[in-house]
Amino acid sequence: MRIDIITILPELLEGPFSASIMKRADEKGLAKVQVHQLRDYSIQKQKSVDDYAFGGGAGMVMSIEPIDRCISALKEQRTYDEVIFMTPDGESLNQAMSNQLSMKQNLIILAGHYKGIDERVRQHLITKEISIGEYVLSGGELAAAVLADSIIRLLPGVLNDETSALTDSFQDNLLAPPVYTRPAEYKGWEVPEILRSGDLKNIEKWRHEQSLERTKIRRPDLYEKYSK
Ligand code: 6GU
Repeated sequence: MRIDIITILPELLEGPFSASIMKRADEKGLAKVQVHQLRDYSIQKQKSVDDYAFGGGAGMVMSIEPIDRCISALKEQRTYDEVIFMTPDGESLNQAMSNQLSMKQNLIILAGHYKGIDERVRQHLITKEISIGEYVLSGGELAAAVLADSIIRLLPGVLNDETSALTDSFQDNLLAPPVYTRPAEYKGWEVPEILRSGDLKNIEKWRHEQSLERTKIRRPDLYEKYSK
């Protein structure tokens, strides 16, 4: 899989992709993430990528031209399955969406600035708009990193058995059960006896019950979906 991220702040994305799981996915050749500086596609003398809003009002608006030039340059190289715009008024990201996107080959993610992007970008160049939650971020960059992480970790071979995504919370509309490690007792706080019993069948049963209980209490909305 290949993910191209378009941004005016590539620095914000360096960290997330150069450590841990996303780094390993890149080294194994399973997911290539390429970050593009939008300013490189500006034809203005100051490399500017925004301009005053038609009709007036405070705040600048990101121009369509550099975005179109960047997306067109990418599309000349390969075919893209989706051109995603990160925006708080997009569709809410959830596990089902990440699962679907993880089966795609090539994605473009545009990290824009919500208040100010020429609407024609959204109308003509974008195929999907995604939000990562009901709060506002300064820009789409961190949201793009979140989306890319949630997708990349699902690619076959990225996670090993121990970190398998199959047992994640949300994969089956249930939250994951609690886990413990040594010591079995710390300051008098004990690990549940059942987990130390070695009785694998009963342990599985206990974990499932804990998942159900947790979901019922913490996320009644999810539990509703699960029981249907
Ligand atoms: Cl995708 N972008 C911005 N700027 N803020 C957000 C968001 C995206 N998702 C939640 N808040």
